[in-house]
Amino acid sequence: MRILSGVQPSGKLHLGNYFGAIQQHIALQDIPNAERFYFIADYHSLTTVQDAAKLREFIRGVAIDYLALGLDPAKSVFFRQSDVPEVQEIAWLLSTVTGMGLLERAHSYKDKVAKGIKPSVGLFYYPVLMAADILIYNSNQVPVGQDQIQHIEMTQDMATYFNQTYKKEVFVRPEGKLSSTPKVPGTDGEKMSKSYGNTIDLQMNEKELKKVVMSVKTDSTPVELPKNPDVDNVYALYSLFATDDEKAALAERYRAGGMGYGDAKKALLEKVVAYFAPYRARREELLAKPDYVDDVLREGAARARAVARQTLDEAKKACGLA
Ligand code: ADP
Ligand code: TRP
Repeated sequence: MRILSGVQPSGKLHLGNYFGAIQQHIALQDIPNAERFYFIADYHSLTTVQDAAKLREFIRGVAIDYLALGLDPAKSVFFRQSDVPEVQEIAWLLSTVTGMGLLERAHSYKDKVAKGIKPSVGLFYYPVLMAADILIYNSNQVPVGQDQIQHIEMTQDMATYFNQTYKKEVFVRPEGKLSSTPKVPGTDGEKMSKSYGNTIDLQMNEKELKKVVMSVKTDSTPVELPKNPDVDNVYALYSLFATDDEKAALAERYRAGGMGYGDAKKALLEKVVAYFAPYRARREELLAKPDYVDDVLREGAARARAVARQTLDEAKKACGLA
């Protein structure tokens, strides 16, 4: 079985990326009989980041973050999307069997345009490139957050269109895989996302974390009254880190009344700071080892590219190009 996923280097990683996607990527390193391919989706990021120095910085940041969070190059093939340019050829082949209607239904495209991102041809075509990312490595399982599920369904459709058009089973149909927390709320209660400015970033130091945790939106129930943990953002974020017993204990304090949201925020802050402390330390070490990071990505790219070439050859043969 092959597991594959990608994260865009379009900014700094946040709790949504971690609990929706990266935590599962790391955990899946320990299951037997599976190969793992994880990549930095830098081609995709060009739809939103169009500043070379910034993009380079974000790519390096995501590479270091993944390694600091526990990506083990002995267990996972880790690479940069653009180091395997074959994926662009597969994307083109897929685009010619894909109807406009399929892409016109993409929520992510509509959401991004609604948020003011320039509706370029690339942004519209984005799901085709994502399908190529998945299909070129014959991936079976794609661990992602909720917002990417539609793209995986589109990938399944594109695989079927291609195989049916050319009467050959070139592409494997992948399945999406959600974490137990597929939609992490941001500080304003909306989905946490780089483009909403509502993130709690993994790289934040204690001072920055304090500021952002204290700004999490809550309702205005007075301290003395009972509160409902099930509709509160602070509680939802705390739950990402807490054990079942800790969650039950805090929920009880909410329901009993007499506790202000400030206290819940303090509990959340303690959790975030402690949980990511080892990551921050490891990150500092990796910052001093740029050659190591480059080597990991270079080796990963070579391994990924060998698989990609095979699939591309088969796909080209199936449609008469080779
Ligand atoms: P962003 O929305 O911040 O730009 P990306 O699109 O780069 O994040 O997402 C990278 C991965 O993180 C994807 O698998 C995505 O589903 C997941 N993800 C992003 N935001 C969240 C969130 N708020 N909750 C759960 N998963 C998320
Ligand atoms: N579109 C994904 C995101 O924004 C990133 C991505 C690109 C991806 N190609 C992929 C995820 C292939 C999984 C599989 O998060």
